[in-house]
Amino acid sequence: MNKFAVFGNPIAHSLSPTIHQMFAEQHNLSISYEKIGPDDNDFENAFATFFNDADAVGCNVTAPFKGRALQQADTLNKAAELAGAVNTLYKKDSQLQGFNTDGIGLVADIQNQGVELADKKVLIIGAGGAARGAIHPLLEAGVETLAITNRTMARASQICDEVNVSHCIALDKPGLMSFDADIIINSTSASLHNQLPDLQHISFIHCELAYDMAYSKDPTLFMQHAKKQGATQSADGLGMLVEQAAAAFTIWTGKLPQTRPVIESLRKR
Ligand code: ATR
Repeated sequence: MNKFAVFGNPIAHSLSPTIHQMFAEQHNLSISYEKIGPDDNDFENAFATFFNDADAVGCNVTAPFKGRALQQADTLNKAAELAGAVNTLYKKDSQLQGFNTDGIGLVADIQNQGVELADKKVLIIGAGGAARGAIHPLLEAGVETLAITNRTMARASQICDEVNVSHCIALDKPGLMSFDADIIINSTSASLHNQLPDLQHISFIHCELAYDMAYSKDPTLFMQHAKKQGATQSADGLGMLVEQAAAAFTIWTGKLPQTRPVIESLRKR
């Protein structure tokens, strides 16, 4: 049986095994997909042990190991390179291919909301690993301007310097006041701690979609704030989670899973 796994710590809460088993059922595939939660000093060992098994095909990697997973890959796709992080590995011809499918998942789920990205003004709040993973796929989707703001502005500027295209800009507080974003994405880890980043200088009046990469049973604080401030719609990151998994599943199996029934099923839990 083909073997898959997700590495992270903590990992008990991970929905990845459930999601991938649902995808496999859609295609009548029998797979094993386990959660592996190594201690900080044991990731590389646990990783090597998993891939030493001849049945091991691929794995996902989540916090805090995405950067270290990149070091394990023989090749990287463009998104992984820019992100400095790998969330999907695929063993092919004894080579480990590294990918970052988080941004592909974000773009797919924004489209699931019926929102077009082409020619839009997009603002990303946050400049950590989650933001980095999103940059390349958002640019590929043809956004007009991709603005990045962050509590620590130097990190936003650093990303823009690396990307080095004129329509990717870092915006500080004064800059934010005159930027009417169509789509505003919260990539900060603030929601995970039930906090809001500083949103004082951000206008939601023209915002057709406020997207929080975090997800929870109830609308996140960011979603609530955005709606109150005039955003037309808001969404959390559950769909992104399922879409990034779908992209990984396709890399591993060549098959396209249906994501909508999986998102709906997880939403009901
Ligand atoms: P991740 O991989 O989840 O992106 P990260 O690389 O640690 O994690 O980045 C976390 C991001 O959330 C950063 O942009 C961080 O801002 P700083 O660069 O200034 O640290 C942002 N962040 C976390 N908590 C925040 C808060 N309470 N308010 C605003 N930004 C916050």
